[in-house]
Amino acid sequence: MLRVKFGPQNNKNNSWSPARPLQNNRAGGEPEQAGRRRVEAVMAELDKMVGLEPVKNLIKELRAFVEIQQRRRGEGLAASSTVMHMIFKGNPGTGKSTVARLMGRLFKELGVLTQGQLIEVERADLVGEYIGHTAHKAREQLKKAIGGILFIDEAYSLARGGEKDFGREAIDVLVKGMEDYRDNLILILAGYREEMEYFLEINPGLRSRFPIQLEFPDYTVPELLAIARVMLAERQYVLAPEAAAELEKILRREVLLGHRYNGNARMVRNIIERAIRRQALRLVNKKRNLSRRELMYIEKEDLLRPDLPAGVKDEGSELPGGPSVCYNNTR
Ligand SMILES: Nc1ncnc2c1ncn2[C@@H]1O[C@H](COP(=O)(O)OP(=O)(O)OP(=O)(O)O)[C@@H](O)[C@H]1O
Ligand SMILES: [Mg+2]
Repeated sequence: MLRVKFGPQNNKNNSWSPARPLQNNRAGGEPEQAGRRRVEAVMAELDKMVGLEPVKNLIKELRAFVEIQQRRRGEGLAASSTVMHMIFKGNPGTGKSTVARLMGRLFKELGVLTQGQLIEVERADLVGEYIGHTAHKAREQLKKAIGGILFIDEAYSLARGGEKDFGREAIDVLVKGMEDYRDNLILILAGYREEMEYFLEINPGLRSRFPIQLEFPDYTVPELLAIARVMLAERQYVLAPEAAAELEKILRREVLLGHRYNGNARMVRNIIERAIRRQALRLVNKKRNLSRRELMYIEKEDLLRPDLPAGVKDEGSELPGGPSVCYNNTR
C-alpha cells in the first residue's frame, strides 16, 4: 500500500526542508513563469503514463506540499519538511525508472534538487571485492548522484550475503550519504515487492529512513494495450484494427504466463519496436510509391512470427510472436 508520511520532521534526519527557495535553481533570475511551465510539462508527461494512479497522486501531493511550504515560508509562516527517500516495489517494466526520472526533473524544477539527474545503479556498482573497495565504490556513486536521485535497483541484493558480505558496508555508506547530503540527494531503493519487504524486515533501521513506499502494480491487458498505443503514437504509427486484436491476443497470453517474467511495459516496447522493423521489411521491397497510410499502419502480419529465410538462425529475443531475425537491440 501507498504510505506517505508528512508532518514536521527533524531536519537532521535526511529530510528536505523548504529552506531553498524556488528560484534558487533557476539560471539568471529566469522568470518564475518559465519554471512553472517546465513543472507543468513534467506533470503532463506523468499524466500521459497509463495507469499508476497512486503513484501520480503521491507525486501531485509532494508537488503541492513543496509549493505550499515555500509559500508559507514566503509569508513568514513555519514551514514543514519531509523525508523524500523512497522505496519502489514492483516487477520489471512497471515504470519504476521512468517515474524516478520524471521525479528527478520535477524536484529540480521545484527547487528540491539542484540538478535532477537520475543515477541508476545495482549491487555490482556499489559492492567491491576487498576491504575498502566497497566504501570507495559506493561513495563514488553517491557523489555522482548529488543534486539528483540515486536509484538502486534490486536493492535487496545488498543484504544477500549475510553479515560478512560487503553489501552491508554499502548499506552503511548509503545511510551515511543520506545524512551527509540530506539537502540535495534523494535515495530510491527499488525491487520486487516480496524481496523489498524482506529486506526492510531484516534491516528495521531502514524503514523509517524511507517513509515513502510506492507500489508499481503489474499492468492489466487493457493497460498494456493503451501503453502500446501511446508508444506507437509517439513514433507516429497506428495499429490497424486487426493488428490491435492480434496484439491483445498476444498480451493476454503473456499475462497468463506471469508478469514477473514477461516484462510488463518493457515487453510492449519490445513488441512494438519489432513490429516497426517488420513493417519496414514488408514495405521496403514494394516497387510502387508508398502511401502515408501504409507508412504509418502496423498490420496484423507485422506482429506475427515471420517465416525465416533458409539458413537464418532462430535467435535473438524471446519475444511473444517468435524471435526476431538477428536484430541486436530488442530492448
Ligand atoms: N504506465 C506507462 N505508460 C507508458 N509507458 C510506460 C509505462 N510504464 C512503463 N512504460 C514504458 O515501459 C518501458 C519500461 O519502463 P521502465 O524502464 O520505467 O520500467 P522499470 O520498472 O524500471 O523496469 P526494470 O525493473 O526492468 O528496470 C519504458 O519504455 C517506459 O517508457
Ligand atoms: Mg528500471
